[in-house]
Amino acid sequence: MRKHSGTPWFPQPAASAITPQHIFAERRRLLQLLAATSATASLSPWAAREAMAAPAAMDKLAALPGKASTVPGTQLAAKPTPWDDATSYNNFYEFGYDKADPARYAPAMPTRPWSVRVEGLVQKPGTWALEDLLRLQPMEERIYRLRCVEGWSMVIPWVGYSLAALLKQVQPLGSAKFVEFVTQADPEHMPGLRRGGLDWPYTEGLRLDEALHPLTLLAFGMYGRVLPNQNGAPVRLVVPWKYGFKNAKSLVAIRLVEHMPATAWVKAAPHEYGFYANVNPGVPHRRWSQASERVIGQGGLLAPKRATELFNGYAEQVGSLYTGMDLKRYY
Ligand code: MTE
Repeated sequence: MRKHSGTPWFPQPAASAITPQHIFAERRRLLQLLAATSATASLSPWAAREAMAAPAAMDKLAALPGKASTVPGTQLAAKPTPWDDATSYNNFYEFGYDKADPARYAPAMPTRPWSVRVEGLVQKPGTWALEDLLRLQPMEERIYRLRCVEGWSMVIPWVGYSLAALLKQVQPLGSAKFVEFVTQADPEHMPGLRRGGLDWPYTEGLRLDEALHPLTLLAFGMYGRVLPNQNGAPVRLVVPWKYGFKNAKSLVAIRLVEHMPATAWVKAAPHEYGFYANVNPGVPHRRWSQASERVIGQGGLLAPKRATELFNGYAEQVGSLYTGMDLKRYY
């Protein structure tokens, strides 16, 4: 009789014997990454707190105040996540897969001098020193909800200005249809790079009209201070209607391109991550329902979950970008 489960009744070749070695090794690294992300995600904030590293010391970070933004949708009336949670429960895989790794290892990453290349299909390509980016526009404070695909959210008062301000300076060509974001990959200071998993550097992308939307933020600070390293110092992207992984940290290049760029997560697991990544309670991720979310810093294990909103609550501002698009297909 044939066995239907358990140990196979016939000798099994090792996967390494039938798959080329480099593909086998890469696949194994990816599985490790996926296992690590789901293991940490299933922790409640209460349990995760056990694993937390020390939060950033707020008083050691330079002040970076911003005037309350008047862009519609930027002043969410919700209690901000406590600073200690926002700076010790992070995803920044370049520093490791544990939620506490970024707080542990990111402080050693040098963030000065820093510059961002703005290149590709633009009239005026160039390298922007951080100081020039800081001077480009008056800083605004914007309170956004960040919704992670793992099923938790935070409310963060960011400081920065619309990415559109920078894009207008460089004058995109008519052929530019997408924007690719490239982030820092510094093997000396980022221990996570040695573990593989994602195809470093971590990259992300937006359609040009998404990148030009006034809600799309180039952030330099949070809670009135410059960004702590674990949160993406010295400059990151924040796109509040999309899942957290779109919010590329520690940007080094912004590239205007004609075709949809391959992003780090889509390359790693195309069946799990889409390019658009718009928050949508009706489209579950393969491993996590997206119907509700745990609000980090509020109540822990027994706290009721919050119902997730379409476009993370920003449907009024951004819904028209997707008119006629099948959001189940283009997730
Ligand atoms: N940016 C880089 N460079 N590397 C990363 O691993 N993780 C993303 C995003 N940006 C990530 C990144 C994910 S999965 C999330 S949820 C958010 O950052 C988390 O941002 P926060 O730690 O400031 O809350």
